[in-house]
Amino acid sequence: MKGSLLLAVTLSLCAILPAAMLADSSSRDQAQIDRGRYLIMMSGCNDCHSSGYMPSEGTLPESQWLMGDTLGWHGPWGTTYPINLRLFASQMDEDEWVSVVTTAKPRPPMPWWALHEMEEQDVRAIYAFIRSLPVEGTEAPAALEPGVTPKTAYFQLVEPQEE
Ligand code: HEC
Repeated sequence: MKGSLLLAVTLSLCAILPAAMLADSSSRDQAQIDRGRYLIMMSGCNDCHSSGYMPSEGTLPESQWLMGDTLGWHGPWGTTYPINLRLFASQMDEDEWVSVVTTAKPRPPMPWWALHEMEEQDVRAIYAFIRSLPVEGTEAPAALEPGVTPKTAYFQLVEPQEE
């Protein structure tokens, strides 16, 4: 009798413990995702990487975030397009993401120095958030060499004329 009670208690503990551990790790994951969302908003990634975010004054729904933009940035570096971060992040695991974004020096106007300075746990939180979004959208247009006029809409850096 005692033995079977002990067995029952042990068995039910076995059933409860993994569930509790899972709940704990999934709330940790959710906290990580929420932190990533916050960092994306605060560090301006949406301003360039989410088409329509700036004109919407930050009200673009999250379902449309981080899929890149066809609005080019034109200057002495050529023309660059903010990439689709959902596709980009889906092509690598978290450790690769950390090593790429903390060392890469993409062309202007990408503020790569902010990612180089960011705490590693925050770089990981950004990855967690991006990977929580469905892998959607198309690749941004390929960057153009200096001197090539873009066929898309673009911002242009105009140097002052020599007097
Ligand atoms: C002012 C506009 C702008 C902002 C703000 C911006 N990006 Fe970018 N980003 C770009 C552009 C443009 C490119 C493409 C550069 C190129 O083609 O060389 C790019 C490229 C990238 C890349 C590709 C790096 C590689 O190795 O190819 C990553 C990753 C990235 N951005 C992440 C971010 C994150 C995360 C944030 C927020 C912390 C952010 N960007 C903020 C414009 C921006």
